[in-house]
Formats: sequence, C-alpha cells, structure tokens
Amino acid sequence: MKAKKRVLSGIRATGRLHLGNYLGAIKGMLALQADPDYETLYMVADAHALTTPYNVAELRQNRREVIIDYLAAGLDPQKSIIFLQADVIEHFELAFYFSSVTTIAKMQHLPTFKDKVKQHPHHNSMALLNYPVLMAADILIYHATDVPVGVDQKPHLEVAREIARKMNATYGTDFPEPKMFATKGEHVPSLKGKGKMSKSVAGSYINLTDDLATIKKRLADAPTDSGQGEKLPSSGGVANLLTLVELFQGSQQRQKYEAQYLSTGLRYDQLKAKLAQAIYQELKPIQSKRAQLEAQPAYVDKVIASGAQKARQLAQQTVKDVKTKLGLG
Ligand code: ADP
Ligand code: TRP
Repeated sequence: MKAKKRVLSGIRATGRLHLGNYLGAIKGMLALQADPDYETLYMVADAHALTTPYNVAELRQNRREVIIDYLAAGLDPQKSIIFLQADVIEHFELAFYFSSVTTIAKMQHLPTFKDKVKQHPHHNSMALLNYPVLMAADILIYHATDVPVGVDQKPHLEVAREIARKMNATYGTDFPEPKMFATKGEHVPSLKGKGKMSKSVAGSYINLTDDLATIKKRLADAPTDSGQGEKLPSSGGVANLLTLVELFQGSQQRQKYEAQYLSTGLRYDQLKAKLAQAIYQELKPIQSKRAQLEAQPAYVDKVIASGAQKARQLAQQTVKDVKTKLGLG
C-alpha cells in the first residue's frame, strides 16, 4: 500500500471563527479529510496566540471553542487527528532547532511580521518574530506535504519550505517542502470594503455562530454606492459584496447582479437580504451541531485527549531523529 500523504493545518485561538476561516481553511481541511489518499492532522494553534497581546481567561476558553467549531463544521476525530498545539510540546523543541537555521533579517522582512508590529507597536516580541518558525515546526514535525490555509499564509509556507531545504542540506533530514492547498474562498474579503475578513478587525467579519438577524445587521453596515455605473468596481465594498455573492450563491447570481449594475441599477437592500439568507443556510447545520456538542463536554475532552496522544507519538519520532542528526543524541 502506498504511504498516505500527510496534511496539517491550524487556526490561531484568538477569537471566534468567521467565514474567512471557514472558506479559506476549514473547507480545505474537510476536502482533504474526505480524501482517502491523505492522513489529516488538524490543530488549534493556541501557542501562536501568545505572539500578540491576549487575555489568559479568553485564551483558555478560545482554544476549546475552536475545537468545538472544528467538530461542528465536520472535522471528524474518526478520520482526523484533532488536537491542541500546546499539548504537543515537541513542536516547541523542534521550533528551537529550526531557529538555528533561520536568520533574524529574514523574519523581520516578512509582511506578516511587519503588519503585526504595526498593529501592536509595543509587542514586537521574540515570539512574534519566531511565529513562522513555530509554524514550520507544526507542519514539518509530521512531514506534512499539504497545508489547507488562506492565501495570507503563503509567506509563512515559503519559510517552512526554506527551513526544510536548509535542514535537509545541512543535517541530512528528510523534510518534504509543504505546499498550500487552496480553496475557492482562499481570500474572503472584509465587510468593510478593504482588506480581508479578520477576527482582529471589528466590523470585517461574520462569525460561524451568527444568527440570521446578526448576519443581516453586519451586512447592513457594509459600505455600498449608488448601485449603478458604467464600470464594475474592482475593489471596495461593492466588489467585496459581489465576491461574497459568488462564494455563497454562485457565479451566475453574481453575473446577474453585475448586469443590473451596468444597466437598470442594483438594489443593495435586496442583494443583502438574499445574501444573508444564503450565508445563514450554510451556517445553520454547523450551529445545530455546535449546540449538541456544547451539551457534551466530556466528549469534547475525550477528543482533545486522544488527539494529543496520537499527535505526540508521531511528533516524538521526528524530534528524536532530528536531535540525533544535530549532534544532540
Ligand atoms: P484571522 O486573520 O481572522 O485572525 P487567522 O490568522 O487565525 O485568522 O487564520 C486562520 C486560517 O483562516 C488561516 O488558514 C487563514 O489563511 C484563514 N483565513 C483567515 N482569514 C481569511 C480570509 N479572509 N479569507 C480566507 N482565508 C482566511
Ligand atoms: N498561522 C496560521 C494562521 O494564523 C495558524 C497556524 C499555525 C497554522 N500553525 C500552522 C496554519 C500550521 C497551518 C499550518 O492562520
């Protein structure tokens, strides 16, 4: 039997999940979980939450909430190893070894690092600088080849590939160069008209747990224009709304709206009402599964414990091998 290819992905435990996380990351995770050619590992990147200012009680809750979101969205512990990053301390050990083949200059120049420093000028910590190195360890510790993430994570994957190459060339390890597994929603735009939907930007997102009224309210606040013009806007609020229409109602519906924009004019109240319905239809089953899971805390505990045990076993083998190759064992 051919060895299965490994997949690893994670989402930071920094808040409630939104449509960007769902379409950009979770949909890809689900597709690969369903593919028998792959062995899938999905973690909550709880330690990565320490790279930006955070609240201890909230992190404690969020790491568990993301596990529940994963299960509610269809990640299945019978098919995937589902775990918390901090439960597998080998990730941190490997990250330290990887930091010995990574330069500070390279990390300082990453756009993701610069953005975060801009957001939190007083928190440019070593942990933040080391973010991509820990992420490389998350992936390479399982020799994962495919990583379902949104397009914003591409620079981080490039770092992981470079670390794999350097480690292999210098120490004779056998790390594969992981690649991004893209979905149709690899870039879900912000509701505010600029940038991507993100947990850290208020007003930019729709959460997976939002009810219809909340979705409507959030869409109502999204900026629009007069609804008519000679040219379709290529960026901004209207362009972003049309992208969401395409993602949730299909490209035909988008084309219909585009034609209206160029002729008789678009009614945004109607567009937003229909879009809200379509989004809610997709979220409803996830929300009912979530309600069931919330009533079964012991089951969630069991998933977390068993995931940690399975992941640790695999991670320990890699770290043992790397230690020997580095001259530490
Ligand atoms: P956030 O920016 O909201 O804090 P994270 O950085 O925790 O989100 O991202 C978790 C996963 O979700 C990553 O794979 C990321 O690429 C994906 N993701 C986040 N926002 C979006 C988006 N707007 N569109 C597509 N994918 C996204
Ligand atoms: N950096 C990712 C994010 O914020 C989260 C993450 C941490 C991750 N480790 C990972 C994603 C490993 C994929 C693989 O979105």
